[in-house]
Amino acid sequence: MFVLKDAVGLTEDASKLVFLDQTQLPLKEVYVETDDIDEICDAISRLKVRGAPAIGVAAALGLAVSFNSAIRCGGNTEDRAALFHSYAEKLAASRPTAVNLSWAVNRMLFVFDRSVRDGLSGTGLRHVLLDEAISIKTEDIEKCRMISENGLKLIGKGSRILTHCNAGHLAVSRYGTALGPVHLALERGLEPVIYVDETRPLLQGARLTAYEMVRDGAETILVCDNMAASLMSSGKIDMVFVGCDRIAANGDVANKIGTCGLAVIASYFGVPFYVLGPTTTYDPDTPDGKSIIIEHRRAEEVTEMFYSERMAPEGVGVYNPAFDVTPSSLVTGYVSEYGLFDNFEDFKKSLI
Ligand code: MRU
Repeated sequence: MFVLKDAVGLTEDASKLVFLDQTQLPLKEVYVETDDIDEICDAISRLKVRGAPAIGVAAALGLAVSFNSAIRCGGNTEDRAALFHSYAEKLAASRPTAVNLSWAVNRMLFVFDRSVRDGLSGTGLRHVLLDEAISIKTEDIEKCRMISENGLKLIGKGSRILTHCNAGHLAVSRYGTALGPVHLALERGLEPVIYVDETRPLLQGARLTAYEMVRDGAETILVCDNMAASLMSSGKIDMVFVGCDRIAANGDVANKIGTCGLAVIASYFGVPFYVLGPTTTYDPDTPDGKSIIIEHRRAEEVTEMFYSERMAPEGVGVYNPAFDVTPSSLVTGYVSEYGLFDNFEDFKKSLI
């Protein structure tokens, strides 16, 4: 199966977080190594590392290595606990919408607190934290592998799939969610055709999904975001595959801004619309889509074309939510590591 070098991981001696700086893709492949908590938080909030599962993994690995590096400077048990909790808080606040981030941070906090209560400190504590972070990544790889197999059941010979943003290898630990089945379909000779929305304002589709799919040898067709209705009304799309940042308890789905519009268009033209993601993206504590906190980002992302020249007049107002919510009624099916579900109740039952 398609494997780029992982977008998030550790240096060989496990002392630093390594990530591919996705803001430089597709023009440059630059890997950054760091154990600095502020640099890690900054990388997440600037989308150098991005995608719901990948930011969870980056936060877990980043918490382990930054804490390791800080405690080499000394301090007593109480200082260290306060330090770990403050790092965790900073990381969790770096992006609010994807639940995978707070899920991973909370899992690390739980292990830290339990280990301290059990009397662990020094090297023992450092090892436990690192092992937990590595497990979070390993489990994510396995979940994505299963999602890819489960989603593959939807793809036939030559299927034409529209996707939005990037829910591929770059957005997870390996393989991808929405793109995972497409990579597998290619490998198994099904010759899928992937239509990629450019995904304004930060162009994750044009820069990242197109990069990933072209490198994998897929027939890849890039379209502007406003072309989806034209494509679907002319019968050029067999199904839509998207990832997710948070699935609420009623099945509403937060994902990259523009996803809801695609779901509405797909429903109107009778094109099946699938949401693919690991169950770590399901948040039973959020009752519905209205309760999901949507990240709003800098105006310049809209008034400038991806870190280049300004293209709108000074003084213009800007609305820049990074995500929207698709009501569960517009979702044809959910694909997780546990299977392919054509209604949300069955998805929920699979978790029991
Ligand atoms: O702002 P981004 O690029 O982090 O948004 C990413 C998405 O919306 C993805 O579709 C989602 O995180 C799923 S990634 C498997």
